[in-house]
Amino acid sequence: MQSEDRRSWVWSLPDGGASNDWPRFRSRLESVAVRRDFDLIELATDDQEPLLLLRREAADSAVRRLLVAAGFHGEEPAGPWGVLDFLEHAPEPLLYSASLCLLPLVNVSGFRAGTRLNARGENPNRGYRGVPGEAPSQEGRVLLRQRATLRSVARDGLLTCHEDVLLHHAYLYSLERAAAPGELTRALLAVNSAHFPLHPDGIIDGCTVAGGIIFNHHDGSFESWLMNEGIAYAACVETPGQHPLAQRIAAHRAMIEAFVRGPVQARDQ
Ligand code: NI
Repeated sequence: MQSEDRRSWVWSLPDGGASNDWPRFRSRLESVAVRRDFDLIELATDDQEPLLLLRREAADSAVRRLLVAAGFHGEEPAGPWGVLDFLEHAPEPLLYSASLCLLPLVNVSGFRAGTRLNARGENPNRGYRGVPGEAPSQEGRVLLRQRATLRSVARDGLLTCHEDVLLHHAYLYSLERAAAPGELTRALLAVNSAHFPLHPDGIIDGCTVAGGIIFNHHDGSFESWLMNEGIAYAACVETPGQHPLAQRIAAHRAMIEAFVRGPVQARDQ
């Protein structure tokens, strides 16, 4: 809906700052990239601001290659702040257990304005797969040009961090090469449901949600595109915007940690 797309949402951060403070977000991101030894790469855009990508290769090439992406929609700030919190506080052994790549904040102009869409009125999570009626956003065009890199860095999994601003309930999407949701999806759902009530079974945006999961729904989104490009797994987690921002940031940080930790193996075998 256009009216919702243009509505501005800004919250107070736990320390009193504003959820749309991009200069502060960028400055903390630059600091933590240096401290944690990530390369900070600026992907050129047509906007005033670059699209930032953080990357660090693990010394052990056998570890999983994972991508975490947040901030596709500007009224969903808990994802980007959760990524930052994760980078600032994650235990070193966890951080070093995978080759990690992060897109901490895809839609900078939407984030600054607190609006779902970017400043051009485009949806940065649509238009990746040539779905009729969908064109890539300017951020999408930048990411589409990085196809080979993104396929490689997300080889073993992609986590995208979203929010559903009008809801009181949490849920997630998973895209899996399996007939039913697997261990990692259940682990992510357990973390989300430890922070919020889960969405009742029913329909969200035309998709069937059962047990808090929308399973194998394919569309023109970023996660659907990379699954089509051959990555092993994708999940898109959704926190409910009607709960306090601090709680939503904590949930995203915890879900990113669970994603990097990976599927829980049976311990009694
Ligand atoms: Ni979203």
